[in-house]
Amino acid sequence: MPFHFSSTCLLPVLWSSLHDHFPDTFCPQCLRRSATETLFCHFYRPKERLAPRPGPRLTFPSVEETLKPFMLSMKKLREISSRFTKEMDNGLDKKKHQKAAVKMLPTFVRAKPDGSERGDFLALDLGGTNFRVLHIRVEDKKILKVDSQICAIPQEIMQGTGHELFDHLAKCLGEFLESQKLKEQKLPLGFTFSFPCEQTEIDKSILIRWTKGFSCSGVEGKDVVQLLKDAIHKRGDYDISSVVMVNDTVATMMSCNQQEHEDPDCEIGMIIGTGTNACYMEDMKNVKRCEETEGQMCINTEWGGFGDKSPLSDPGALDDILTDFDKEVDETSINPGVHIFEKMISGMYLGEIVRLVLVELTNNNLLFEGKVTVRLDTKHTFETKHMSFIEGARVDQEVIDTIQDLLKVRCSEDDARVVSLVCDTISSRSAHLCAAALAAIANRIRLNKAKDNLKTAVGVDGTVYKKHPNFRHKLEDAVAFLAPECDLKFYISEDGSGKGAAMVTAVAQRQPHSRLMNGNGEEDR
Ligand code: BGC
Repeated sequence: MPFHFSSTCLLPVLWSSLHDHFPDTFCPQCLRRSATETLFCHFYRPKERLAPRPGPRLTFPSVEETLKPFMLSMKKLREISSRFTKEMDNGLDKKKHQKAAVKMLPTFVRAKPDGSERGDFLALDLGGTNFRVLHIRVEDKKILKVDSQICAIPQEIMQGTGHELFDHLAKCLGEFLESQKLKEQKLPLGFTFSFPCEQTEIDKSILIRWTKGFSCSGVEGKDVVQLLKDAIHKRGDYDISSVVMVNDTVATMMSCNQQEHEDPDCEIGMIIGTGTNACYMEDMKNVKRCEETEGQMCINTEWGGFGDKSPLSDPGALDDILTDFDKEVDETSINPGVHIFEKMISGMYLGEIVRLVLVELTNNNLLFEGKVTVRLDTKHTFETKHMSFIEGARVDQEVIDTIQDLLKVRCSEDDARVVSLVCDTISSRSAHLCAAALAAIANRIRLNKAKDNLKTAVGVDGTVYKKHPNFRHKLEDAVAFLAPECDLKFYISEDGSGKGAAMVTAVAQRQPHSRLMNGNGEEDR
């Protein structure tokens, strides 16, 4: 990783020797708790990192008190990384899997593209507030997007019935085929469905639970591929040949393998957007729920569930670091008690955590002259995109204007700095938690290969990673610290969900299919 010495400030050095004597103190300049973290924050910065916004760093002791529980030392992050490793083992285990918080779902994606794939495919991408339909052509080791269309998923459909949702998807697909004059062709279809699903075969996928604000009735526990096929057949005006189901992490990893970069192997796919998750290539011999022992299979970790209480983890693995703000975000969400890790990390929740902290600070007379406005007190008025803007702003006035406009408060310069500090603290925690889980995955791949050092690539997508001004640097720096034996290269995926789904479909056409065994070692149907 291209580190260089970037600070001339001796404060962290002094502080770090002080820290040996007073381990619970914070660095006054950046509020980091551990000595390593402070050194890491002040001295080692990747070259491309943005310069911090100019302006004095004030210390706000009472504000720091509120923010302290969000600051995780490197020691704590190492501990969290080890807990995640244990949860991964539980999820892969044939007997413990049912009760595991981190589901480690087999995806039946066993091979990466070998360059021989070709043909025309349809891809559907459902995972957020939009649904995308794509026509993809695979040829000469390239994935080309012929055309695509976006359909909005209105709130009433996200929270309506399953039939309404799948009818809506089938309608959007029909309109797209019509516009492309493809209705008479029966093309194979890759379906990127970005929710936790238990796949028993590549084209059979049972929804475990909804996440990210979806709650359509009658879908959990059902095969989503069948629901899609039923909706298409009900219309009767077009048909598709085969359907292959993939998670967005898997599609991202697969499309990264087809990008033109110097690393041939992309063994990890990661999403940090509205939701968060990662997949990686695991040795078949460790996937105890499948009968084959040779080769590899991509595992969808569903790391968003890390920290959920389960019979194997009670108390939950993250209970000791959950703040009152996290608990409130969870309790007021549409799926309380589940996807705890996701609620500490992803774009759907970060802004709301910040808002709750701002309300608390205002109630304690530490912000906005102690006046909680209706806007400030309204759920979801402060979004993750506003954090990105505030953290990337070059001058205080931009921050002041944004906050005043958004929250209808009177915002002083000091207020603006406090808000920036809150945003930085919450996004840093998010990046560091992701790093802890990613370090565990990278180390697992390294140990599987029995190597002292691993060099591999991660395909990444998601608005938080892509749009936040320094999230990726915080994440990448922390992984380098937590997994020093692993040299990870990160590749941002463009259109990865759609292109990857087409690629998985293309690869599946030349692959024998595996199945999942039930607890008795028999094939599950
Ligand atoms: C889902 C995952 C998905 C992730 C990113 C989570 O809420 O459970 O399946 O990969 O969001 O979209």
